[in-house]
Amino acid sequence: MTSFREMRLDDLFKLNPLVFDYFTEVYSLPFFLQHLIQWSSQSQVAESPNGQIKGYIFGKTVTNCPKTHGHICALTVAQDYRRLGVGTCLMNHFSKFIDQQGAWYVNLFLRCSNMAAYELYRKLGYIHRRTLLDYYPDVPENAFDMKKPLSRDLQKQSSTLAVIHSQTEPKITENEQQI
Ligand SMILES: CC(C)(COP(=O)(O)OP(=O)(O)OC[C@H]1O[C@@H](n2cnc3c(N)ncnc32)[C@H](O)[C@@H]1OP(=O)(O)O)[C@@H](O)C(=O)NCCC(=O)NCCS
Repeated sequence: MTSFREMRLDDLFKLNPLVFDYFTEVYSLPFFLQHLIQWSSQSQVAESPNGQIKGYIFGKTVTNCPKTHGHICALTVAQDYRRLGVGTCLMNHFSKFIDQQGAWYVNLFLRCSNMAAYELYRKLGYIHRRTLLDYYPDVPENAFDMKKPLSRDLQKQSSTLAVIHSQTEPKITENEQQI
């Protein structure tokens, strides 16, 4: 059985077993703390009856741009619980929440080699908009920028204007973390 609930501060100490996956981006404790304080209702965990964390998502609302949107900073499901729909549930919860807040779209970044995540996002309606060159600095790799229009975007401009091109982006800052 899996239950889904809002992430709490003490959950941060239970995430270690999940973060050793190559595709899981790991941020500092101060970053996660700040994130939870600011966007507590937008981060969720999937939990087993014994309290084990099966997966988590860190989402946030971005308002300092022309169109308010949701951004997914991190999503991970523990190895033993993959392909069971946990990632889909976490993604859908965030998407629904941010849609009800009146956001225009949800976006996220992923390593180009992360085909599992790419398939998950594609299946959920995310569209590959552009490729960001050398986006990941630690183990250098390009990133896909994917976006899903929400119900406020009646004409689906977030997707119809999609263009796939390569460009170099400013390096990552703590304010615009990527996954
Ligand atoms: C990507 C990830 C979050 C998927 O979580 P999950 O709980 O296994 O995903 P779901 O069970 O909801 O899968 C939904 C769909 O996504 C696609 N998918 C998921 N994993 C896949 C894989 N390994 N290969 C191909 N397609 C995959 C499938 O279409 C799947 O539907 P199906 O099982 O009916 O075929 C998980 O593999 C993970 O944590 N990976 C490591 C961290 C990571 O990459 N995070 C994302 C960074 S951008």
